[in-house]
Amino acid sequence: MTVVASIGVASVETIRARFPALDRVHRGHPVAYFDGPGGTQVPAPVVDAMADYLYHHNANTHWAYPSSVETDRLIEEARAAVADFLNASADEIAFGLNMTTLTFHLGRALGREWTAGDEVIVTELDHHANLAPWQALARERGIVLRTVPLRTEDGTLDLSSLPALFGPRTRLLALGAAAGCDFLACSAYKFYGPHVGILWGRRERIEALDLPRLIPVPDTAPERLETGTQNHEGIIGAGAAVEFLASLGSGATRRARLASAYAELHRRGRDLFNALWDGLRGERRIRLYGPPPDAPRTPTVSLTIEGTRAEAVARALAERGLFLSHGDFYAPTVLERYGRLEEGFVRAGCACYTTGDEVARLVEELRRLSR
Ligand SMILES: Cc1ncc(COP(=O)(O)O)c(C=O)c1O
Repeated sequence: MTVVASIGVASVETIRARFPALDRVHRGHPVAYFDGPGGTQVPAPVVDAMADYLYHHNANTHWAYPSSVETDRLIEEARAAVADFLNASADEIAFGLNMTTLTFHLGRALGREWTAGDEVIVTELDHHANLAPWQALARERGIVLRTVPLRTEDGTLDLSSLPALFGPRTRLLALGAAAGCDFLACSAYKFYGPHVGILWGRRERIEALDLPRLIPVPDTAPERLETGTQNHEGIIGAGAAVEFLASLGSGATRRARLASAYAELHRRGRDLFNALWDGLRGERRIRLYGPPPDAPRTPTVSLTIEGTRAEAVARALAERGLFLSHGDFYAPTVLERYGRLEEGFVRAGCACYTTGDEVARLVEELRRLSR
């Protein structure tokens, strides 16, 4: 695996130099990417690691000749890197197509253990990748879904309703969060990696799953979770993305470097987000969704301009080199609750390469469009 030299807590200029996509110019404007929540840009070291694998080490796994042995080693190194990222051990990290596919896969296996009347708690705030697999079990196996409602006042979950939703038949709480869980699914393209999915699970949980699998595949964690030949270059790219993030920080171990990089990126993200929020909140026709910046939240906001479809806003912004996504983001329940299913949301997310100038450009353009 390509190891990126540690550069301390890197400045945003140093970080930006690693992303060739930032050289793009559209209609005479340097492109500012605010579409990170739907997929961040990819730095050169990640692409280099993937290209190096495909050019020099490409093979299938578990055979006796050098490129196959190298493939095994590179995949194991990627598992170890992703394990550091998720604070897990390498044999608990499985890969797959994307979060959605892995969650359906997990749901199918868990459903085999459950009986009609067992319950799963879901939320109105989640991406439907964390809803549809459980809805499928409701249809196929008589699993009962209980739902944590969204509070439309501030876009957060009504967690006070949660204790009453738990009961003797509760088998799973499925929600977007980051603490103390048994399984966690995500996709590496959300954090500077390629399009590959990651599923972490506690080893004993992975080993207990009744999974659809081929008999000759190793029946041990994590490989028993993986179906068919994997996206080797994607897995190696996911490991390289973690190495890239760690290279932005400092410390004696990769985990420590990740923690220091994240602390700094979090601080920068909060400053950018404050500027975005403060720049827009006074605008009469702009509505910002979700809690204010002092609440625990990510530097991502959904917004609408009264009387304008989200797609029209996104198109107008793109003309100025501001790339933002729009629509329902596969979380249509949220839009339904806000009565915006037709018009959609526009979504702005800050990433490690976002600058204050880019935020100022976005604020100015949104203000101009709303007046
Ligand atoms: C919060 C959240 N959950 C799940 C997903 C699904 O990820 P994927 O499309 O990679 O399966 C996404 C992607 O947009 C997401 O943002």
